[in-house]
Amino acid sequence: MGTDAGAMASDSSLEHELEAMLEIEKFEPPAEFRERANWSDPAIYDEAAADPVAWWTARSKELLDWDIEPTEGLNDSDPPFYKWFEDGRINASAQCLDRHVAAGIGDRVAYHWRGEEGEERDVTYADLHRDVQRFANALKDLGVDKGDVVGIYLPMIPEVAVAMLACARIGAIHNVVFGGFSAESVRERMEFADAKALVTVDGARRKGKTAPIKEQVDEQMGSVDSLKTIVVVRATGIDVPMTDGRDVFYDEVCAAADPECPAEPMEAEHPLFILYTSGSTAKPKGILHTTGGYLTGAATTHRYVFDLKPETDVYWCAADVGWITGHTYIVYGPLANGATSVMWEGAPDYPHQGVWWENVERYKATILYAAPTAIRTFIKWGADIPAKFDLSSLRLLGSVGEPINPKAWLWYHKVIGGERCPIVDTWWQTETGGIMITPLPGITATKPGSATTPFPGVKAEVVDEKEGEPLAEGQGLLMLERPWPSMLRTLYKEDDRFIETYFSKFGKERYLVGDAARRDSDGYFWVIGRIDDVVNVSGHRLSTAEVESAIVAHESVAEAAVIGQTDEDTGQAICAFVTLRGGTEPSKDVEAGIREAVATRIGKFARPKRIVWADDLPKTRSGKIMRRLLRDIAEGRALGDVTTLRDPDVMAELEAKIAEESDDES
Ligand code: PRX
Repeated sequence: MGTDAGAMASDSSLEHELEAMLEIEKFEPPAEFRERANWSDPAIYDEAAADPVAWWTARSKELLDWDIEPTEGLNDSDPPFYKWFEDGRINASAQCLDRHVAAGIGDRVAYHWRGEEGEERDVTYADLHRDVQRFANALKDLGVDKGDVVGIYLPMIPEVAVAMLACARIGAIHNVVFGGFSAESVRERMEFADAKALVTVDGARRKGKTAPIKEQVDEQMGSVDSLKTIVVVRATGIDVPMTDGRDVFYDEVCAAADPECPAEPMEAEHPLFILYTSGSTAKPKGILHTTGGYLTGAATTHRYVFDLKPETDVYWCAADVGWITGHTYIVYGPLANGATSVMWEGAPDYPHQGVWWENVERYKATILYAAPTAIRTFIKWGADIPAKFDLSSLRLLGSVGEPINPKAWLWYHKVIGGERCPIVDTWWQTETGGIMITPLPGITATKPGSATTPFPGVKAEVVDEKEGEPLAEGQGLLMLERPWPSMLRTLYKEDDRFIETYFSKFGKERYLVGDAARRDSDGYFWVIGRIDDVVNVSGHRLSTAEVESAIVAHESVAEAAVIGQTDEDTGQAICAFVTLRGGTEPSKDVEAGIREAVATRIGKFARPKRIVWADDLPKTRSGKIMRRLLRDIAEGRALGDVTTLRDPDVMAELEAKIAEESDDES
């Protein structure tokens, strides 16, 4: 009781302090940070802008050791199919491992891995080098060749990095699926990509329980014709069904494989990976990244945005490897730079709500990169929890995945960063491969809520929606106006969709981001959110169409319309307007069934937070659902123009439903 009262008192005085800090417009980099920063001279921006291709090429040679150095930077002869460093040869796994071992730092820890139950494994660069070679040979023994696609569906265990790098070593293209996706989503992503092998796990631990992943995978994977092999990592030791001739255990194939697997230099444009992400339609987009340009972007941004000092920093990106943030800033960027990282298996609240801060204290983490949704959760749990741990090792904080509201930024700055750590709010996407708009921590004065300005060599604009004219100030569409090395090369097997999605609005040389943004009088960028039907739930990207198709798969549902509703915890939350088939009455059971259908089809994180039963949905005369009106109604705003509706009465009925819903709540 006494402690609670104390915590409440301190939280309310903290609240006042944060309120007062909202008045501060800019936070300059602390002098002591600036003095030691990797980059502290703003001239870097002009230098890069003067000749971006030459500048990126120089970064590539500075941070990577090419087997054959490229003689050419950018090939822009066939936009938007840009190529970078085309005649160079390089192997991503050798860049991340062999060269560090050869340089004598093989005993440096690559990952301080910590498991949910407190287990620890320090994995060095030499360990990874050994394991990757064996697994690369094992994949070859299993018939995986250069150019084949290998699915990876693993939790946050070191084997996920081993599997990715083993693919890279032999030129196989990895296709990682986030562990929170359902087995059905995995099947779909394996089918789209014609995956030849899948690396998965016996079971995955989640907050003290074990999910039977291999069993779930088995229920789905029989129908994927291309799939010849399933490799099973024994992480939890639970019994798993194994199919003769198809399934093998990771430890056994590694033990049987040759320990030496020399890295084969790859063409710079050889595909490194596909990562499926959500677009405007129900079918996910297979974002394709290639080797030399992607690695250049990953290594450069990781080194300079996070001001990385590989010898002394302990860096922790608290994302999941299954998202692009994990690919670039847990695996390729940090390993290419020889960094020591923390890899945390679990959730932020298991075994207790202070476990992140316990990890920071335990490993003396110096850099923390996290999502605003996590920060907002910590705010809710209270500042007294992090206060119990020694966070003085931290020197830099990062944010990614969604706009960070100024209050959360200030809390992060004060409570976690002790007011001494610069915050880098990094804007980017699966498509961009690496960070595009961000402060440079030794140079840029930050404004809470703004990702500030483009990284050197990157040209971004906010343009007016109709003509595409750049706006010096004000709100419009965010565009990237110049190719960059780590950009996506295409949508896997869907070149036309690639052009249509990103390069049809204002031409083939201007990349349409899909976000709305604002520029202020200092030229700073404020990213507002998506302009398409993509919803960002806790930094997880989902398409409304994808969720709708999962909902209508439920036998009782006639029609569904899904929108992203502003949510103070998760940024946006899924709100579904559902029309039931005649004869079915709304009930808790139907609601549970719908939520379950979404969990099975996509994953638990996509389940609707709110379901509104609708007799009908607002449609235009041509039958298109007007989601804008649904968003207005869900968020209690005045309705926009309803004159184009086929049946304007629908909105009045829905308004009555929403009013009923709030009566029920009160
Ligand atoms: O809307 C932007 C938002 O996340 C989208 C990209 O999602 P995804 O491809 O899953 O990649 C997330 C991790 C890089 C963007 O189009 N977004 C990402 N970072 C920020 C952001 N919105 C505002 N501020 C950010 N820092």
